[in-house]
Amino acid sequence: MIEISNLVVDFGGGPVLDGVEFYVPEGKTAAIMGKNGCGKSVLLKTIIGLITPTSGNIFIRGVSPEVMRKKQEITVEMGYVFQRGGLFDSLSVYENVAFPLRRKKIPEHEIERTVADVLARVGLSGSENKFPAELSGGMQKRVGLARAVCTNPSVVLYDDPTAGLDPVLSDSIAELMLLLRESYRVTSLVVTHELKVAEKIADQVLLIYKGKLVFSGSAKDFFTRSSEYARQFCEGDIEGPMDIF
Ligand SMILES: Nc1ncnc2c1ncn2[C@@H]1O[C@H](COP(=O)(O)OP(=O)(O)OP(=O)(O)O)[C@@H](O)[C@H]1O
Ligand SMILES: [Mg+2]
Repeated sequence: MIEISNLVVDFGGGPVLDGVEFYVPEGKTAAIMGKNGCGKSVLLKTIIGLITPTSGNIFIRGVSPEVMRKKQEITVEMGYVFQRGGLFDSLSVYENVAFPLRRKKIPEHEIERTVADVLARVGLSGSENKFPAELSGGMQKRVGLARAVCTNPSVVLYDDPTAGLDPVLSDSIAELMLLLRESYRVTSLVVTHELKVAEKIADQVLLIYKGKLVFSGSAKDFFTRSSEYARQFCEGDIEGPMDIF
């Protein structure tokens, strides 16, 4: 479903991603982990076509993001939850969620129904007319999630969807991601720093260090610390193969 081969992204100061390769089968979830600044957001942005790779290939169901963008299919096929919410400040909650649906030219009454449904699923019924500035950080995150999934995309890319949320809300977002996977066979990549979230939702784990994947395998192997990299990361250990800085 998501197939990445030999991906290199270099902004001019040396590679941020250096030969990244992995495959995520349909309906599965991969957690992407790694230290701050290791290239997780760059990886997601490259997959959705916001960054052009220096070299390498990306295929989503056999189609490259470039081709999807030309056909204006990218926002339909893929949902994206931005690390900082990425909401339009001047649009209400309702209009933010309706945005990708309008691009699909869906009739208004159907948009109304879909927005109401998805807002109910993220626990935000009644907030339709609020603006992002009036919402707490956690509420903004949930609006971003609602917007990413409302078109029923086959792939959803989540960039740190639970960052800054309290533990209960964080768990409810993880539950929501599980529900989407079960109900719609969504294939997803989830960048997260939260081991608990990753353990709950991930089938496989990708650990990035210095632009390379230093662990790529099943979640089970990762969480049973089957490699020194996995062990160091899970335990937050200063000692290990990865430098702190
Ligand atoms: N558009 C860009 N132009 C130049 N450099 C960039 C660009 N975007 C990201 N970078 C650099 O790429 C590296 C990886 O950034 P990225 O945002 O992917 O980190 P991250 O793994 O998501 O970190 P965090 O956990 O803090 O969110 C950083 O050194 C960053 O400065
Ligand atoms: Mg990031």
